Amino acid sequence: MRLVVCKENSVTTGKFSKTNISTMSSDIKSVGVLTSGGDAPGMNAAIRAVTRAGISNGLRMYGIYRGYKGLISNEIEEFRTNSVSNIIQQGGTVLKTARSLEFMTLEGRRTAYENMQKHGIDALIVIGGDGSLTGAGIFANEFNIPVVGLPGTIDNDLNGTDTTIGYDTALNTIMQSMDKIRDTATSHERLFFVEVMGRNCGYLALNSAIASGAEAAIIPEISIEKDQLAELIEQGFRKSKSSSMVLVTESEVTGGAIKLAERVKTEYPQYDVRVSILGHLQRGGSPTAQDRILASRMGIAAIQALQENQRNVMIGIRENEIDYVPFKRAIKKERAISEELLEVLRISSI
Ligand code: F6P
Repeated sequence: MRLVVCKENSVTTGKFSKTNISTMSSDIKSVGVLTSGGDAPGMNAAIRAVTRAGISNGLRMYGIYRGYKGLISNEIEEFRTNSVSNIIQQGGTVLKTARSLEFMTLEGRRTAYENMQKHGIDALIVIGGDGSLTGAGIFANEFNIPVVGLPGTIDNDLNGTDTTIGYDTALNTIMQSMDKIRDTATSHERLFFVEVMGRNCGYLALNSAIASGAEAAIIPEISIEKDQLAELIEQGFRKSKSSSMVLVTESEVTGGAIKLAERVKTEYPQYDVRVSILGHLQRGGSPTAQDRILASRMGIAAIQALQENQRNVMIGIRENEIDYVPFKRAIKKERAISEELLEVLRISSI
């Protein structure tokens, strides 16, 4: 294992107890749920699970629209069991989402807190990525509110959970796109750089490269150490092949697909190079079974965590077990990338 910039390998802080959820005692009577940051397939399954677990435990449940923005502008509605009917199969988030600048100010957070009080909401469940959980931690500490987070992001860049909600669906979407790009790459005998999301985390690129039989993945965790492009060219990509596909993580560290293609055009003009940036199509679509199950388990665990008086934790699943991961650990910017995955890609693309 080597140290890289995205997320750490092992964080185990609490285990999901086997105690029946309804036997737990807590002062919490009503809970609000919101989705924040970039949407991710499976967020609806999480909203559904949270709502129904809360109601089945006698809690009043509130849906908060447009993330923290809606908490500030008081877009809050009581949810019943049928408020979340027929959504498990839908991509996106029925609660809508936003990135709120106002919530970054104390004044904005105070208004958010006052709105929670108006509705009698005692606790919050936040479904989102690192920025959303960072905001959740600050808010929880400032106003002494019980907040539990669920990792909702296609990036898979949070610590303490094997995967995040939406990651598996995005991976499958990328794989299907790669299968199509392969047809044209092969026909024209071209080199393709395909750029995928992930911010500073190479998981999407690395695993989709393995799944789609690509030649390589240029990812921030490795690019920071060496010039991956030069290495690939020196190796001649795959000598027995006339076409090649390379996954690239969007990131200043990798340079992104367009910059890499420009470099190839000037430094290695023998290659006929093209770029495909998959963009936001990676965030859409009906969630896979894996994401629906992950989101359902995590949603129910979030209510249990509140019933157990847990505070400021994200629900993670590691080795098929629920963990409670403190926000600070979940959003920490370092992790070890699997040498094994890198080796699988290297060997299978010779
Ligand atoms: O965090 C999820 C994500 O899709 C990243 O992979 C990407 O960099 C970013 O969100 C894009 O955000 P936006 O939709 O606001 O452009």
